[in-house]
Amino acid sequence: MQASTSGQPLAQQIQGRPLATHRPRLVLRARQLRKSFGGIRAVSDMSITLREGSITGLIGPNGAGKSTLFHLLSGVIVPDAGHVELFGVDVTALPPHERARRGLVRSFQLAREFGALTVLENLLLAPQAQCGERLLPLFFRPARVTAEERQVYARAREVLDLARLTPLRNEYAVNLSGGQKKLLELGRALMTGCPVILLDEPGAGVNPALMGLLTDMIRRLNSEFRKTFLIIEHDMDLVARLCDPVIVMTDGRHLAEGSFETVRKDPEVIRAYLGGGAVADV
Ligand SMILES: Nc1ncnc2c1ncn2[C@@H]1O[C@H](COP(=O)(O)OP(=O)(O)OP(=O)(O)O)[C@@H](O)[C@H]1O
Ligand SMILES: [Mg+2]
Repeated sequence: MQASTSGQPLAQQIQGRPLATHRPRLVLRARQLRKSFGGIRAVSDMSITLREGSITGLIGPNGAGKSTLFHLLSGVIVPDAGHVELFGVDVTALPPHERARRGLVRSFQLAREFGALTVLENLLLAPQAQCGERLLPLFFRPARVTAEERQVYARAREVLDLARLTPLRNEYAVNLSGGQKKLLELGRALMTGCPVILLDEPGAGVNPALMGLLTDMIRRLNSEFRKTFLIIEHDMDLVARLCDPVIVMTDGRHLAEGSFETVRKDPEVIRAYLGGGAVADV
């Protein structure tokens, strides 16, 4: 199934969806993924599933392979072995923009905003599937381009409002704080309209006040707009408050999975974290 990434306002994207009456379907399934860099096996026979409407956490010590797994799921790099399915379709050979067209978008561990552009311009540049980006429609279907541009502006205003970035819309992105850049990064992911969003450490470098806003935003996007999230995070407070299930990775492998309460008590998880103590702290 192909997800809509047209310029519809966020609220319209969920209209007309049947109410879930049974177990949520799988939106993403990765099987036996493997990736080495030279002699380093970063991801080792890693399998993962994401259920529609979930906020799934991905945790693990530094170097566990979490970001590499994101690169594999989003198509930034090609696996040495294994498969990725999105809405039941094998996308293993597809590049990131094709996966975005099919409904999956990701953020990066270090925010990748365009510093020389304003916040609003950063959002307007984000959509992948708007007609105006392709030259031929621009010449032959100007009326449609204008209509879509209007929709994109409308969505940008909605995203600015959601992320509380409206007062900063004309600010150059380079001048934003670390937390505001993370909100902008999430905003750019929202602009694509993709139903599946992968966030790599959204809480890193975010001050406590903005952390609350970020957490509320993710929860609201999940409950009101049915966005499915996979979130890598070292902030166990954020994981405990938002994520269920939580998947634990170590040494490139799937170590444990369950509620945060379950995995934090798992002896193998505690052993994997020994030294960091991150899980035991919460
Ligand atoms: N491009 C690369 N070239 C060589 N080695 C890499 C590359 N990317 C990742 N690695 C190695 O692969 C392993 C997994 O790295 P990865 O960044 O996926 O871990 P991570 O779980 O995201 O860690 P962190 O929590 O610190 O962000 C590490 O040993 C890392 O040094
Ligand atoms: Mg990482």
